[in-house]
Amino acid sequence: MKNPYYPIDTVVEDIITETPTIKTFCLKPKKPIAFRAGQFMQLTVPGVGEAPFTPSSDPNISEKMEISILKTGKVTDALHELKPGAKVGLRGPFGKGYPLDKLVGKEVLVVGGGVGLAPMRALLYALFNDPSKYKKIVIKFGAREPEELSFRRQYDEWGSLAPNISLQTTIDVPHPKWDGHVGLVTSILDDLDINIPDSYALSCGPEIMLKFVTLKLLEVGYKPPQIYLSMNRKMSCGMGKCGRCNVGHYYLCVDGPDMCYDKIKHVPNVFG
Ligand SMILES: Cc1cc2nc3c(=O)[nH]c(=O)nc-3n(C[C@H](O)[C@H](O)[C@H](O)COP(=O)(O)OP(=O)(O)OC[C@H]3O[C@@H](n4cnc5c(N)ncnc54)[C@H](O)[C@@H]3O)c2cc1C
Ligand code: FES
Repeated sequence: MKNPYYPIDTVVEDIITETPTIKTFCLKPKKPIAFRAGQFMQLTVPGVGEAPFTPSSDPNISEKMEISILKTGKVTDALHELKPGAKVGLRGPFGKGYPLDKLVGKEVLVVGGGVGLAPMRALLYALFNDPSKYKKIVIKFGAREPEELSFRRQYDEWGSLAPNISLQTTIDVPHPKWDGHVGLVTSILDDLDINIPDSYALSCGPEIMLKFVTLKLLEVGYKPPQIYLSMNRKMSCGMGKCGRCNVGHYYLCVDGPDMCYDKIKHVPNVFG
């Protein structure tokens, strides 16, 4: 029987510097890996360790995969030191991924912050595959500073892909190189051009951001079943066996990592 812990040999083909702390790793696994937007992989750096990451690339492409990674500790520091040609391992995908079927025919609000823009990019690629399936795709991205907005090179293209797509960005505090909106990402959720009863909102970012985005979405009229949050708790096995990733009675690696807020709203300390 195939050992589910055994990673697929993978070559780092290219590395793109997105921000001072985030790099996108363009990976070529030895065999194709089919994944759905929002599912995650366990990535191994040989001799260092393994950590979970959600691909940021187009889920329609299985021969290659991009993963955008914030430098924050042992495994991610080692990843940021790698050069093209390096060998890593991938196992997965794990989790359910975003509820794409539910979004068909709806107005879709996508809210991302910081490194949370990475999984959101895979979601956007999935939505952009046929934007006419959705009434609207409204994208709201935030970061602390302009340099920390990942994928900026793609925003103009995304915002003009179809008439039903709009994209707005914000940074937390004023910056000499920024003439756009200033304020937390919640500050661009007040006057949404969205028919909220006909909408789903999906959000990914640091837990503190998820908390305040959720509160704002509830304030502007979203109901808990319309809100999906990407919950990035510590994970190990990825298969519901080690018990490290639970939120209430859910295992995020199996039942998530994208969770409907209605399912987890009663869990104490749901936002960490
Ligand atoms: C399902 C899932 C998807 C993820 N997707 C991405 C992604 O696309 N890009 C990305 O950059 N990161 C992502 N993460 C977070 C990433 O897994 C952690 O940053 C990574 O495990 C840190 O490993 P490390 O060895 O470098 O850090 P460590 O040395 O283990 O820890 C360094 C610091 O990072 C913190 N940390 C560790 N794990 C997490 C975590 N899961 N969430 C938040 N903080 C953590 C620790 O508390 C510590 O403060 C994801 C996490 C999960 C669970
Ligand atoms: S990561 Fe082991 S149970 Fe979820």
